[in-house]
Amino acid sequence: MGWMSGDRDLDVVVFGATGFVGRLVAGYLADHAPPGVRIGLAGRSERRLADIRAGLGGAASSWPLLVADSADPRSLAALVRAARVVATTVGPYRRQGLALVEACASAGTDYADLTGEVLFMRESIDRYHGVAAGTGARIVHSCGFDSIPSDLGVLLLHHAARADDTGDMEDTTLVVTALRGGVSGGTLASGMGQWDEMRASDEARRLVEDPYTLSPSREAEPDLGDQSDLQWARHDAELGIWVGPFIMAGLNTRVVRRSNALHDWAYGRRFRYREVTGFGSGRAAPVQAAAVAAGVKALTAGLTFPPSRALLGTVLPRPGQGPSDNTRRRGFFRIQIHTRTSAGLRYLGKIEARGDPGYAATSVMLGESALCLALDRDRLPDRAGVLTPATAMGATLIKRLQSAGHTLTAQRITQLPPQPPADRARGDDAADKRAF
Ligand SMILES: NC(=O)c1ccc[n+]([C@@H]2O[C@H](COP(=O)([O-])OP(=O)(O)OC[C@H]3O[C@@H](n4cnc5c(N)ncnc54)[C@H](OP(=O)(O)O)[C@@H]3O)[C@@H](O)[C@H]2O)c1
Repeated sequence: MGWMSGDRDLDVVVFGATGFVGRLVAGYLADHAPPGVRIGLAGRSERRLADIRAGLGGAASSWPLLVADSADPRSLAALVRAARVVATTVGPYRRQGLALVEACASAGTDYADLTGEVLFMRESIDRYHGVAAGTGARIVHSCGFDSIPSDLGVLLLHHAARADDTGDMEDTTLVVTALRGGVSGGTLASGMGQWDEMRASDEARRLVEDPYTLSPSREAEPDLGDQSDLQWARHDAELGIWVGPFIMAGLNTRVVRRSNALHDWAYGRRFRYREVTGFGSGRAAPVQAAAVAAGVKALTAGLTFPPSRALLGTVLPRPGQGPSDNTRRRGFFRIQIHTRTSAGLRYLGKIEARGDPGYAATSVMLGESALCLALDRDRLPDRAGVLTPATAMGATLIKRLQSAGHTLTAQRITQLPPQPPADRARGDDAADKRAF
């Protein structure tokens, strides 16, 4: 391994600290990192970094500032040599991110990000998995609301079924039962970048739509029939509820399938995984499920085509902007994951947190991921390369998030849990809802 403890000045650097979510991650670390952890802030402008640091106060007032630009490889080389872990919120990652992955992989520096961009992750895997495996770097994508609840939730179910010796996991469904949150300009820009690429290139569309697009070896994956993401509302006979699409399914399911493959298919070779939004079984459920499905379609179409995008651009947040303090405080999410094992037993996972999922809860997730990579190295799985949260940090990160107040549980069940009516579980302010 190129990396040795003690040969770096800093434990964690937050790159992108002047952006909307980067500022929140820096704030989380200022309030929650144990004393003595050496943290730095990085970005393009020293003056703006100094302003951010001044706003954090307390322990953060002595944090060093590092000036670096994704377009300047020399500045990135200096950045990654200064730290054990770089937590980056510099996005859109497809445009700004790959040079940092290269620098971390080459220098043996651990890396955590918040990307939701499948095409970026595929390129990162193709180009740098081998390099990072050689230097011992752990490159971990999607360490926020996308895809930590999915990836760690399924891992917990696997641990529960394994402990009971009840066979492999088979049909597994993540149901978002409640969610309230907002969206930032950076997230919208990242989503639009991927839609543009899919519109311009059949190959990009094929990659994004392939359920195993992030797998280490496409040919080694089993053929389990159609596993496309749900597009419309429908009644789910097995769960007894109405379900509709979940907008992040296209990313999260690929990450979870990569985790299974990197674990040598420990979840099972017949592991079929999907993610949906749940609307309960009340009388209004089919109408709500259909309305949300239509809303998702309309929003994606609106943001895909230039004229309506320009119009929406006048009301949606711009890069640097995002949900207000109040929206972030009032947000929450509740997720259930159902699985059936090859021995026919059912398990239920619950993942829940208070705070806007994409921003408040995400800053806890990325902050704890960075601390986990920096401080818990001797408790992490013995793996390097381009990894997932579950394969890079697994049970150690689950414990950290539980200690930080997030709910992550899994247990065997004999009966399905009651489903709350969807209308009470959802935000009441349309502008508040997470759009991507
Ligand atoms: N996974 C999740 O759950 C989740 C949640 C939230 C956000 N995200 C993702 O996180 C990313 C950031 O979102 P955001 O809302 O914080 O965006 P933002 O406010 O636009 O912030 C972007 C940051 O990137 C920096 N940056 C841009 N180009 C750079 C370059 N060439 N070199 C160095 N820094 C550069 C910006 O620096 P300047 O200040 O100098 O412009 C800024 O600090 C997006 O990709 C978004 O999709 C994911």
